[in-house]
Amino acid sequence: MRLTSGPLRRLGCVLALSFRALMLREISGAWALDNGLAMTPTMGWLHWERFMCNTDCEEDPDSCVSEKLFMQMADIMASEGWKEVGYEYICIDDCWMASRRDSKQRLQADPKRFPSGIRHLSDYVHSKGLKLGIYADVGKKTCAGYPGSLGHYNIDAETFADWGVDLLKFDGCYCDSVEELANGYKHMSLALNKTGRSIVYSCEWPLYMWPFQKPNYTEIRRYCNHWRNFGDIYDSWQSIKTILAWTSANQWTLVRAAGPGGWNDPDMLVIGNFGLSWDQQVTQMALWAIMAAPLLMSNDLRHISSQAKTLLQNKDVIAINQDPLGKQGYLLRKEDSIEVWERPLSNLAWAVAVVNLQEIGGPRSYTISLTSLGQGMACNPACHITELLPVKTKLGFYEWTSYVKTRINPTGTVLLQLQISQTTF
Ligand code: GLA
Repeated sequence: MRLTSGPLRRLGCVLALSFRALMLREISGAWALDNGLAMTPTMGWLHWERFMCNTDCEEDPDSCVSEKLFMQMADIMASEGWKEVGYEYICIDDCWMASRRDSKQRLQADPKRFPSGIRHLSDYVHSKGLKLGIYADVGKKTCAGYPGSLGHYNIDAETFADWGVDLLKFDGCYCDSVEELANGYKHMSLALNKTGRSIVYSCEWPLYMWPFQKPNYTEIRRYCNHWRNFGDIYDSWQSIKTILAWTSANQWTLVRAAGPGGWNDPDMLVIGNFGLSWDQQVTQMALWAIMAAPLLMSNDLRHISSQAKTLLQNKDVIAINQDPLGKQGYLLRKEDSIEVWERPLSNLAWAVAVVNLQEIGGPRSYTISLTSLGQGMACNPACHITELLPVKTKLGFYEWTSYVKTRINPTGTVLLQLQISQTTF
């Protein structure tokens, strides 16, 4: 049976008095895809950024897109603490398919690289207490040129359900018009629903829509559990910076659209790879928590530094990402290359991220007036402040009229958590 839940209606609490808060409440009451899934952002692993379309298993047996790769990631996810902190979905991206459908028009996995088939892989992943994600495309072909789902939405949804798949990443390449794109995304959502299996539906609909027209997020939220808005992430600081800049530039459209059941997806976590310094990895982790982003790592869990692993497994930061209130954070202000982001959390708490975007010089000090946070409510009448990143430190008790001082490395972030206290002394 597919799980269902009624439309989500959440009461804003601390924000309820401000006009902006009323708007947010209105929006998080907007209908989400009614499948009961992704009530908090999806967590897992997705092969694309790190392994791309590497199909050469003879030359590169350990890093080609094959059942072995996913089984090894599942083993590690279950045995090295990932599952315990919430990472659950092992997701296949593009390049898993054979170049043709079978005689019954069903998609099939490449027989050399997936000799046991996807059903076997999903049984294996499930036996580890994890879930399996797969990839397909709304148009004629996938972005890498494998068979697309156009004209085959129902049969593909049924095939995925038969195989025991738990998440579908549905790409948007090779569509002839925005109508075809929108109809295809909707059709697949309904087809998945009809299978009766709980399948998280991960879309790229708005990303492919933006060049032609502003996406209708109310509609997208009704059909998708999360959606990519912006181009592909790369393993570089330039890429992280661009995603953050685009997100803040469009934040009043994006923040309104997010809430339990439906999330903006700024793309994979690239922490643990080659391109980001330690401070930049901290920035990605902190800001993906502020943005209520799906946490889909794309790295090699077999070879990852203990520092990156500790960051990705940081329970306090994951708790912010997974906060049940489900409100996405936003850029509050930018001053002299310092950005202050904030996110309302449940139990009247707030998360605040201070990012130092200056790429010259050393650590910079930045002082925040507590009255300026959370529309004046984040520390009212007083609060306890804990620095969660880069190093967990209890900063102590602060009154509303006081200031908190931070010191941030270039391209790094200080992530704070504020918890209201009713006692002033
Ligand atoms: C698009 C998507 C990526 C990835 C590739 C696969 O570019 O945005 O995330 O899925 O296709 O070809």
